Amino acid sequence: MVECKELTLKYKDGHKENLVLDNVDLQIQNGENVVLLGPSGSGKSSLIYLFSGLKKPTSGQILYDGVDIENFNQKQFSDLRRKKFGYIFQMHFLVPYLRVLENVLVGAPKMTAKYKNRAQSLLDELGIGQYSGKRIYELSGGERQRVAIARALVSEPQIIFADEPTASLDHDTAVEILKLLKQFKESTTLMIATHDISILDGDESIVRIEHHKAVREHGKIS
Ligand SMILES: Nc1ncnc2c1ncn2[C@@H]1O[C@H](COP(=O)(O)OP(=O)(O)O)[C@@H](O)[C@H]1O
Ligand SMILES: [Mg+2]
Repeated sequence: MVECKELTLKYKDGHKENLVLDNVDLQIQNGENVVLLGPSGSGKSSLIYLFSGLKKPTSGQILYDGVDIENFNQKQFSDLRRKKFGYIFQMHFLVPYLRVLENVLVGAPKMTAKYKNRAQSLLDELGIGQYSGKRIYELSGGERQRVAIARALVSEPQIIFADEPTASLDHDTAVEILKLLKQFKESTTLMIATHDISILDGDESIVRIEHHKAVREHGKIS
C-alpha cells in the first residue's frame, strides 16, 4: 500500500504563499487504478510528483508499505525510483535519436538479456513490435505513447505514475492507450492524472482534487 498522511504543499511566490494541497490523507491499495480528477491548477501533477518522490512536501509524509520515504537513504531512494516506479508523462520524454527498443530500455534497471527480451515482448504486445528498430520521430503520437507505456512497464514496477498520459492524443487513441495501460499493468498500481472523464470506463477509483483536498468519489462519475 502507498499512502500520504497530512500532506501539505505550498509554493512561495514572492511574499505570497500559494497553498496547493492542505493536509491531504490518501491510501492507495496495491493494484488499484486511481484516477486523479480536478480542474487545471488543482494540484493533480503536484500530488503525482509528491507520491513519486520527485517533489518534497512542505509537511506531511509519504509511506510505502508503512515506511516513510524520508527514512530512505540515497541508494534506497534511487532503487525505489528505478525498480519500483514507472513514469508516463504527457510530454513523453522519449529520446528522439534513440531507437524504439533503446527508448524502452531507458526504463530498465539493468541492460541484461532479460530486460531486452521483456522490452521486445512488451512492444509486441502493444502492437508496435515491428517498429523496435525505428527512431521515435518516425512514429505517430499514439505509437510514441505506446513506447512510453513499454518503457514504464519494462522494470515490472509496483506503481506507475501517469500525468495526463493521453492529453496530446485524439479521443479514440486516448481511450485505446488507457485500455492498453490497464491491460498490461499486471498487478501494478496505477495513479493517473487527467481532466478528461470521457476516456474512463468505470473500473477506476476516482479521487477528486478540490479545495486543496483529495476526496474519494463513490458511484458513477459525471
Ligand atoms: N514549480 C512551481 N512553482 C510554483 N507554483 C507551482 C509550481 N508547480 C505548480 N505550481 C502551482 O501549483 C498549483 C497546482 O499545480 P499543478 O499541480 O500543476 O495542477 P494540475 O496538474 O492539477 O493542473 C497551481 O496553482 C500551479 O500554478
Ligand atoms: Mg498537471
